[in-house]
Formats: sequence, structure tokens, C-alpha cells
Amino acid sequence: MVSTLQFSNGDRMPALGLGTWKSGPGDVYKAVKEAIALGYRHIDCAHIYGNEAEIGRALAESFSEGVATREQLWITSKLWNDSHGAEDVRPALETTLSNLQLDYLDLYLIHWPVALKKGASFPLTSDKLISLKDLPISTTWQAMEALVDDGKCRHIGVSNFSTTKLQALVKTARIKPEINQIELHPYLQQPSMLAFCQENNIYLTAYSPLGSSDRPNSLKTDDEPVLLDDATIASIAKTHGATPAQVLISWAIHRGTAVIPKSVNPARIKQNLAAAEVSLTPEDMQTITALNLSRRYVDGTIWVVEGGAYTLANLWDN
Ligand code: A2P
Repeated sequence: MVSTLQFSNGDRMPALGLGTWKSGPGDVYKAVKEAIALGYRHIDCAHIYGNEAEIGRALAESFSEGVATREQLWITSKLWNDSHGAEDVRPALETTLSNLQLDYLDLYLIHWPVALKKGASFPLTSDKLISLKDLPISTTWQAMEALVDDGKCRHIGVSNFSTTKLQALVKTARIKPEINQIELHPYLQQPSMLAFCQENNIYLTAYSPLGSSDRPNSLKTDDEPVLLDDATIASIAKTHGATPAQVLISWAIHRGTAVIPKSVNPARIKQNLAAAEVSLTPEDMQTITALNLSRRYVDGTIWVVEGGAYTLANLWDN
């Protein structure tokens, strides 16, 4: 059984969901259908992944075939960086809803604390970036709050936010952010973020929980440690008759976070869901704590361009 994280209004988000970043055309439709048929009830999407229309088809078919109802599913999506302007937020959500063939989202997140000019594409140059002074998060957030008022999304939150940025948002928000979706795994444990969020009634969702080794080469370095090959994780997996991926997923759930492993492979989609049954001991959790390297796989350097408004220091506030 997948546990749930309960919000103050009583809604419950399944702690384990299917990630869809990097799930390509053709694959993602099958992956989402398969996942729902197997019992996944949480699908994590984003406009920028470029695959929401295909996910929408999988959702619509799953509903019409009676595999699941809309109410049983938790669907998250994310506002892209080029739609932070007050007048751009609603149309962006409407595009996502239309692609996903849904009337509402369970959760809508600001994807990055980074603003881009409308339609800006890669490679980025400084003129395509807008600083947070010129287009503050508070402006974008007010437009997000209006979507909740209208019933277009049940919950709103953020992604890739530092504790500093969360703190500022919590202070000014009429509707508090309920989720921060960030990179979390044994090599990037972010304990002070976890503590801050627990104190402020914000849940964390762990992205790249398996180390996202399928991300584009431009987001990789030659010397990076491979999380799925970690010897300590492998030995813990062995004691539970589990796989390393299952230990990584179970670890996230044991920390009280949600987790969204991505797979387009039916056997691994099934294996990852079964991680909900893997029960790690306090000793296992302690052993894994010692693996922290504070090592980001998705480090935000794509937002750092010559003469631009963003640096790694102002992105992560460290
Ligand atoms: P695939 O989609 O072919 O299964 P993350 O969730 O951290 O972004 O990681 C996704 C990567 O991990 C993808 O390359 C995915 O490949 C792979 N993956 C997903 N589940 C498993 C698993 N149970 N064992 C090994 N690799 C996995």
C-alpha cells in the first residue's frame, strides 16, 4: 500500500508517483497507462517535458476504460519559466489542462525560481532572462492563488526553491505553498530543508530519486557518482531481497517525503511501485544518512549565462 501525505483541507497525495521528465513520445503514453493499471495514483507532469498531450490521452483512456476515476488520481503539473507574468499564468494552466484533458489539477507548481521572456528557448542568452527583481515570485504567486480561488487547481506549490525563497514566500502568501519539489536522494539529502518544511507544514517531493542517469549529457559531468551503483545501497537492498532502486524509493518515503521515480519500462514501473512494501530499519536509515555528499545532479547551471540575472549563489541562496 502506498502511504499518503495529508493536507490541511483533508486531501491526500500518494507518497509514490510516476515521474515523466525524459519520458519520450510513444513511451510516455504506454508508461502512464501501465502505471495506472498497476495501481499508481499519482502522476507528476510539467509543461516543459513536452509530453502532456500524450499523458492526457493515457489519462482519458484510463478513465473511459474504468481503470481509475479522476478523483482517485493525483495529477501535478508545473508552470514554465516563461509564463511567470501575472497575465501569463492562467493561459499556461489552461494549456496544460487542455493537453492533459482535465478540468482541474491536484497540484500546480512554479517550476523554477527563474523567469524567462515569453517563448524563450535554448540556448539561453542574458536578454532572454528576467531577474526576480523585475518579475518577483510574489507576482507569479498571486496569479497562482487566483487559480485556486477558481477551482482550477486544488493545491499550489513550488519547485527548486531554497529555504530562503520559501521563507519569503510563506511570509507574504495568502495561500501558503504546500509543496516544494526538489532534488532529493541519498547523495543530496538536504536535512535543513527537510526540517524547515516540517516546521512550516510544507511537504517535499523528491525528484531524481534514482539519480536521473538518463538526463541529457549537457546536464552531466564526467566524474559524477552513480547513485544506482552505490555499494552501501546495494548491500541494504540485498538484506531486504529488494533492488537498489527500491531502497532509494523506500528511503524517500521513510523520510516523510513524496517521491516520483521515472520509468518507461513496464517491469521497472512495477518494481518501483513495489518499493512501497520495502520496510527499512532505523539502522538502514542511519547508514544511508552517512552517504550524503550534498551533490546535485540538476545543479541549475543552465540558468547561469554570461551577463544574466542568475548565478548558482542567487539560485540556491548559498
Ligand atoms: P527507464 O525509464 O528505462 O526505466 P530518476 O527517476 O531519478 O529521474 O531516474 C530515471 C532513470 O532511472 C531512467 O533512466 C530510468 O530508466 C531508470 N530507472 C527507473 N526505475 C529503475 C529501476 N527500478 N532500476 C534501474 N533503473 C531504473
